[in-house]
Amino acid sequence: SIKEPLRVMISGAPASGKGTQCELIVQKFGLVHISTGDLLRTEVSSGTEIGNKAKEFMNAGRLVPDEIVTAMVTARLSREDAKERGWLLDGYPRSFAQAQSLEKLKIRPDIYIVLDVPDEILIDRCVGRRLDPMTGKIYHLKNYPPETEEIKERLVTRPDDTEEKVKSRLELYKRNAEAISSTYSNIMNRTDGNRTKEAVFKEIESLLSQVQKDEKKPSEYG
Ligand code: AP5
Repeated sequence: SIKEPLRVMISGAPASGKGTQCELIVQKFGLVHISTGDLLRTEVSSGTEIGNKAKEFMNAGRLVPDEIVTAMVTARLSREDAKERGWLLDGYPRSFAQAQSLEKLKIRPDIYIVLDVPDEILIDRCVGRRLDPMTGKIYHLKNYPPETEEIKERLVTRPDDTEEKVKSRLELYKRNAEAISSTYSNIMNRTDGNRTKEAVFKEIESLLSQVQKDEKKPSEYG
């Protein structure tokens, strides 16, 4: 049977769990994960021209200029693997202008997932977050501690994960959220992100399976 590749957007405040859910979604659905935050952090650590431009904005918790990010995302979306396996866009669009850029290119997701988490929990999640530079895996000192001492020793923190910077990232997110969701209101699904990652994933998994099933209906091919 012909299965249309899924196109998914995931959104939510800083530390709402987007990256964590994306790991689980990729394992189950095999989509190509495109995280603008991860792409930008790779550019920064490789010291590229893009990375050098992006660094100051990221470290200050501000948005990197649209032209840089939009070019990066559209290039990645147009690659063959994303077309064949489907994609999972994480951290983009982050402003009304970015949403409009995708609309102009007729790039639309099948579903727009928003993770809802209360502010005070977001701050604790950022401050306790640690990344494994070897695997890219996301940990939390209390909630999801590393499996071994060896992993623990190599974990790193993000420069934008201080309490002060998280607060300004959160404000920025709130200012933009409504304008972006207006573009996708007909395919938007709000999910309670303040549960264990397994519980959140269970709901997302069933949403995505439903979308996949619906797409196989002959009437939808019209
Ligand atoms: P980006 O990397 O996208 O940062 P963000 O949106 O702030 O999101 P985070 O990565 O902080 O959090 P997350 O939701 O992925 O949460 P996670 O799963 O890690 O962007 C960084 C910067 O890049 C931006 O500030 C900007 O400068 C720039 N940028 C990116 N995209 C851009 C764009 N489109 N335009 C312009 N600039 C752009 O989880 C967080 C923590 O909580 C972890 O420790 C995790 O273990 C824990 N956790 C996760 N789920 C749970 C759970 N269910 N219960 C308990 N703990 C949990």
